[in-house]
Amino acid sequence: MKILVTGGAGFIGSNFIYLLLSERPAWKIICVDALTYAANIHTLNDAMKSENFTFYKEDIRNRAGIDAIFEKEHPDVVVNFAAESHVDRSIENPEIFLETNIIGTAVLMDACRKYGVERFHQVGTDEVYGDLPLDRPDLFFHEDTPIHTSSPYSTSKASADLLVQAYHRTYGLPVTISRRSNNYGPYQFPEKLIPLMIHNATNDKPLPVYGQGLNVRDWLYVKDHCYGILAVLEKGKVGEVYNLGGHNEKANIEIVKTILAELGKPESLITYVTDRKGHDLRYAIDPSKAMKELGWAPTTMFGDGIKLTINWYREHTEWMRECTSGEYMKYYEKMYHNR
Ligand code: NAD
Ligand code: TYD
Repeated sequence: MKILVTGGAGFIGSNFIYLLLSERPAWKIICVDALTYAANIHTLNDAMKSENFTFYKEDIRNRAGIDAIFEKEHPDVVVNFAAESHVDRSIENPEIFLETNIIGTAVLMDACRKYGVERFHQVGTDEVYGDLPLDRPDLFFHEDTPIHTSSPYSTSKASADLLVQAYHRTYGLPVTISRRSNNYGPYQFPEKLIPLMIHNATNDKPLPVYGQGLNVRDWLYVKDHCYGILAVLEKGKVGEVYNLGGHNEKANIEIVKTILAELGKPESLITYVTDRKGHDLRYAIDPSKAMKELGWAPTTMFGDGIKLTINWYREHTEWMRECTSGEYMKYYEKMYHNR
C-alpha cells in the first residue's frame, strides 16, 4: 500500500504519519506539504529516518508539481490534511483559505482522476454544520445536518466537501469524508486554544479568553482522531461521510482553568478579551454512525489526554521555541494587542 498524505508536517497529519509508521509498518508513506507557517519540519525528524517515508515540499495548488509527484509515485490512497486551518486567520484574510482549501482540494482530486487511486479521503470538520445553541444539550451534529457555515474557514471547508461529493457523483472518484470537531495533543501549532494557553501559562503571560469563555467545543485526542481516519480508509464505504467524536464537550473557560491547575499557575492570568467575530457557540458531534459501521471509538479520556498534552509541551520546549520565534510574534501582536 502506498499512501500519499498532504499536510503531514502540520498537527493532525504528522500524528497520522506516526500512527501509520507504527500500526501499518509495511505501508509506503509519501508526505506532501508546502511548509507554511503552521508546519514545523522538525516534527517529521523521526519519520525521515524511516525508509518507508518520503517527503516532498510542494503546494497542493500547484497542478504541475502535484501531477509530477503522482506521475512518479502512483499512490493507491490519498488523505488530504493540507489546509489553512485557523478561524481567526480566515477572518483576517479569507482568500488563501479559498485557494488552498478549495482549489488545492480540486487539484489533488484531478490528479487522482488522472492517475487513478483506490481512495481519496478528505479530512473535514464539523464546523461545516455551523453551531448549536448553548441551551439545547440534546442537539448534535449528524452526517445529514444541513451545511450552514459561519466563518470563511468553515465555508472553505464546506465548499471542499461539496466538491469532493461532486467528484464522486460526476466522475465516480472513490471518496470518503470524515468530519471532526476540535483536536488536541502533540505538535499542534500554538495559535489554537490549548497549545496557546499552555505556552502563555508556562511563560506567566495573560491567557486571552474570547468573550466570556462560555463557547463549547467537543474535544478529541488527536491519536483517537487518527485511528478514526484509518478506520474510514479500511472499513468506510465509498461516497460516505463519517462524523468522528466522543461526546466530550467543554466550555473554553473550563479548559483554560484545567490547564492552569495542571501547571500550578494562578487563575489571575485569565484575561477576558473582545470576542471573535461570528463566534460559533457550540459544537457537538453524534459519532454513532462511525461507531456502528466502523467499530471505532475514542479511548483517551480528556483528563488523561490533557495531561499527556501538557507533558508533551513541557518536554518539547525547543519545538515550541521554533514555532514561536519570528513570524509568530508578529501574528500574536497583531491579533491580541489591545484586544
Ligand atoms: P495545521 O494548520 O496544523 O496543518 C496544516 C498543514 O498543511 C501544514 O503542515 C501546512 O504547511 C500544510 N499546508 C497548508 N497549505 C498548504 C498547501 N497549499 N499545500 C500543501 N500543504 C499545505 O492543520 P491541522 O490542525 O493539522 O488540520 C489538518 C486538517 O484537519 C485540516 O484540513 C483541518 O481543516 C482539519 N481539521 C482540524 C481540526 C483541529 O482541531 N485542528 C478539527 C477538524 C478538522
Ligand atoms: P480554536 O482553537 O481557534 O479552534 P476553533 O475556533 O476551530 O474551535 O478555538 C477554540 C475555542 O477557543 C474557540 O471557541 C475560540 C476560543 N479561543 C479563545 O478563547 N482564545 C484564544 O486565544 C483562542 C485561540 C481561541
